[in-house]
Formats: sequence, structure tokens, C-alpha cells
Amino acid sequence: MILVIGGAGYIGSHVVNRLVETERVVVYDNLSTGCREAVNEQAIFIEGELVDEKRLTQVFSLFPIKTVVHLAAASVEVESNENPQLYYENNVTAMLVLLKVMRAHHVKNIVYSSTALTSSPANEPLNEQSYIETTNPYARSKYFSEQILQDYTMAYKMNCIVLRYLNGSGTQIEDLVNAYSMALETVAKNERSFKIYNLGNGQDYSVKETKEKETITKSDSHIEDTPVFIASLQKIQQELGLYAEKNLQRLISDTWNGHQIKNFNF
Ligand SMILES: NC(=O)c1ccc[n+]([C@@H]2O[C@H](COP(=O)([O-])OP(=O)(O)OC[C@H]3O[C@@H](n4cnc5c(N)ncnc54)[C@H](O)[C@@H]3O)[C@@H](O)[C@H]2O)c1
Repeated sequence: MILVIGGAGYIGSHVVNRLVETERVVVYDNLSTGCREAVNEQAIFIEGELVDEKRLTQVFSLFPIKTVVHLAAASVEVESNENPQLYYENNVTAMLVLLKVMRAHHVKNIVYSSTALTSSPANEPLNEQSYIETTNPYARSKYFSEQILQDYTMAYKMNCIVLRYLNGSGTQIEDLVNAYSMALETVAKNERSFKIYNLGNGQDYSVKETKEKETITKSDSHIEDTPVFIASLQKIQQELGLYAEKNLQRLISDTWNGHQIKNFNF
């Protein structure tokens, strides 16, 4: 059985839609930015706060959880500068609570959602070892969480995969869902390892190319020429076999639709 924390959110609800095809799934979510209606009917839904150790313990006691997919986070960079306490509590303290409860129930497998850990433009695609520069409490909370996961994986012989979304403009949702499926297959192999994989589409686009697709959003988006960084997908392609579709039109429409859904429903 798989526990998806944050499974009522934008990415989580899509991951759950895929997982219920083959697995029994429990979704745990406080609905702070998620939407109850987005949770697939085949999944068991439990409303709860991640930092609530007692409630989380009940969930692990009630269900035979084998693997955790952790997508729950406060994730607005600007807000994190204004209220770092919320970000460190929600993203770091809650992670420690989750790991404590997992250990108490001998649950060893976790797939964690991280984010781009740099804002520096680069000439080369960034790989998983590239220079890390965290510029806000949100990014730092993800960085600290990665470090905690690495330490726990080594000390307590866990299986952990971190998926880092590197493309600022977003990724196509289908590719993300595929990545989660592959990551789950990999942690289930019980190799007791900690791995980080970049996600993205491995390509940047010029401002001109992006402007030309403005009809998708039907708005004058005033796109500015800002520095770009792109993800090297070599590792995830070689080790998990994930190949992302390089299609600017679909990337913009998926990202735009995601924002519309969030603004309307969530
Ligand atoms: N969407 C992106 O482009 C993107 C980019 C980089 C990283 N990520 C990461 O991917 C994950 C999912 O992103 P998303 O876009 O689906 O976000 P989202 O806000 O739509 O989903 C997050 C879900 O987690 C829940 N949640 C938050 N804090 C919680 C808590 N303390 N206890 C229980 N539930 C809680 C929310 O209610 C929501 O359903 C996040 O960890 C985010 O940081 C997303």
C-alpha cells in the first residue's frame, strides 16, 4: 500500500490517478492548497496535518504502508521570504515527524519531491551535482530536507529517491507521473540507496519562441528576457529510462492549465 502525502494537490492528484491503476493508495492531505474533489475515488482519503504525529501514527497503524510519496509542501517562494517559519515548519519539521513515524513502523521507502536548487544561469545543462545556490527559505527548506533524507537513508538503511524539478516553467504532467512510477519501482527494489534525479524537459526555449505561443494563454504575458537554467536529464534517462517530450506548445498549455486549475479550484 502506498501513502501519498499531498495527494490532493496538483501533481499529487495526477500521481494518485496513475497509482490506483495498480496499487492500493491512501492520500493524506491537510487541504491547505489541495482539493478534496481532485482525489481519485479509488484512493482512501484522510484529512490530516503532516506535523501531527499522533494522527500520522494512526494512519501507519491502520494501513499496511510500504512506501511513502511525499509531495506536501508550502511552495511559494515570495511567501517564504515573508514567512520563513511557515516554510521551515511545514517542509522541514513535518519531514522529521514523517521520518520518525516511518521508522517506528519500519517503513523504508520514500519518494520525495524537491525543487530547483539554484538560480544561477549556466551555459551547460545542470546535473545533480551542479553548484547549489538556494536563494529563499522555500528552496532552503527543500535543500535541508534532501540532506535529512540522505542522512536517514544511510543511517537507517532506507530507500530514497528525490525528484528535483528543475525547469522553472514547469514540466509536462505526464512525464512527471511517469517519473514517479519509475521511482516507486526503483525504491521497491530495496537497494538501500539515496538517489537524486533531475526532472524537466532538458531543453531551454528562446523568448521569441515562447512569445510565439502566446495564443495558448490568450494574454499579453510581457515575457522578459531572463537568465535560464536547464536540467541535464542524462542520469534519469540512463538509470530509470525516462524520456521527456520536448514540445514547447504542450509545455506552455499544461503549465497554463495547471495554474488555471489551481486558481479556480484549489
Ligand atoms: N508544481 C511545480 O511546478 C513544482 C516545482 C518544484 C517542486 N514542486 C514540489 O512538488 C510538490 C507538489 O507540488 P504541487 O504543485 O502539486 O503543489 P500543491 O500545493 O498543489 O500540492 C501540495 C499538497 O500538499 C498539501 N499539504 C501542504 N502542506 C501540508 C501539510 N503540512 N500536511 C498535509 N498536507 C499538506 C496541500 O494541501 C496540497 O494538496 C511540492 O512539494 C512542491 O514543492 C512543485
